[in-house]
Amino acid sequence: MPNPKMTEDKALEAVRVYERCLKEGFRPVGSGVPGMSAGQEAARRLKLTAGTFGSRLKAADRLYNVKPNNELYKPLKNQDSGLPSLEERIRSLLVRNRKVMTLEELSDHFDVGISTVRKSIEGLIDRGLNISIRNGEIDIPDSLPMPVKPLYIDVSKFHGKRLLFGVTGDNHLCSKYERLDVLNALFDIWHEQGVETVLQCGNMLDGEARFNRFDLLEVGAENQIAYFLRHWPARPGMKTLFVAGDDHEGGYVQREGLDIGKLIVRTAKDQSLPYHRDDLEYLGYMERDIVFDSGTSKQIIRLMHAGGGTAYAISYTSQKIVESLQGGEKPQILLIGHYHKFDISYPRNVYTVQVGCTQDQTPFMRKRKLEAHVGGVTLAVTLGQDGLFHDITAHWHPFFDREFYKGWKYQSLVRSHEDQTAPKPLLHKGSVLRKKSRVG
Ligand SMILES: [Fe+2]
Repeated sequence: MPNPKMTEDKALEAVRVYERCLKEGFRPVGSGVPGMSAGQEAARRLKLTAGTFGSRLKAADRLYNVKPNNELYKPLKNQDSGLPSLEERIRSLLVRNRKVMTLEELSDHFDVGISTVRKSIEGLIDRGLNISIRNGEIDIPDSLPMPVKPLYIDVSKFHGKRLLFGVTGDNHLCSKYERLDVLNALFDIWHEQGVETVLQCGNMLDGEARFNRFDLLEVGAENQIAYFLRHWPARPGMKTLFVAGDDHEGGYVQREGLDIGKLIVRTAKDQSLPYHRDDLEYLGYMERDIVFDSGTSKQIIRLMHAGGGTAYAISYTSQKIVESLQGGEKPQILLIGHYHKFDISYPRNVYTVQVGCTQDQTPFMRKRKLEAHVGGVTLAVTLGQDGLFHDITAHWHPFFDREFYKGWKYQSLVRSHEDQTAPKPLLHKGSVLRKKSRVG
């Protein structure tokens, strides 16, 4: 019986990963340059034998007329041998071994001086790697420190004012099921409402895992970040503050030792890149508190990317999360990403919002009979003269399957919806989060 035909997804994935390796400095196959080839490295990353990987490349050419472009090969600087740089070799050793090593051990292993190792480690940290150094011992942990100190806001100018925030989460950019049309419509809505700060509750990227590998538009942290920076909506005067989840984009933290949130912002600020931007701020891994500190009282909005599966009742997960908080650590408002659901509840006096998503239902969700609530939230809250939050409301902007909008202009649909239900325009001038006086 003949072998089944290689699927286009698998063949194109092989080409994409091979080209990424070329860009990272692995030599083209058959180039005669010493060192590891892009084919060997790509096969390793895809967990394939060299032979299977080679067959996929051949199939891509034969069946789909796609060949890798060897001109993408960029030999690494300061590297005459064709081997990956010392930085790259240290990174790969630490990630692969997952064990603590001292500077001396690394120095012996690579047969270079301690100061050279130290310089390479600094270079890796600079590149966004999550390297821990304690008492001369170095490793790449598979998580990030948390919780981070809260972000403090000086609220003196905002007493008695109505504050508005756009709230979103689970956007899963780079997934075939992403809904950039919805995300852009939400930014249009928020911009018209006068929102200047968008709060994002994690899973801004789809990341890479076994279950989504054939659903991806981009493979590799670098490519997913570039895609994110090109496609995340930007509107004049608006800024996005985000947390990173421990799933999806969190895979880059656990597998590759990258501090993905920091890396997104660092890449965004690189003015040499065509997609550089300065409207993104990383709040932390999995959760972060924003504290409106009026001196006499502190009001907290907590962003969280939760975990676990959706419960039988949608609000049950919110309730259990709040039940698990100790008395002194409860926020006034809790914004939860992860479940791809919209829900408002008020367990233990915490105004709790599950923020929905901008990704259509995936095959993974369909198999588990999970529905996706596609849309976003405008959060409105009055900061009273007493320093407390009053009149909290979460307005839901619903959207439907992509098919629903075929032949429609969704924006006019949104606008007419907005005319009737939008909260009043923002009362304050300027974003509260731009006016912070101190960051804890
Ligand atoms: Fe998600």
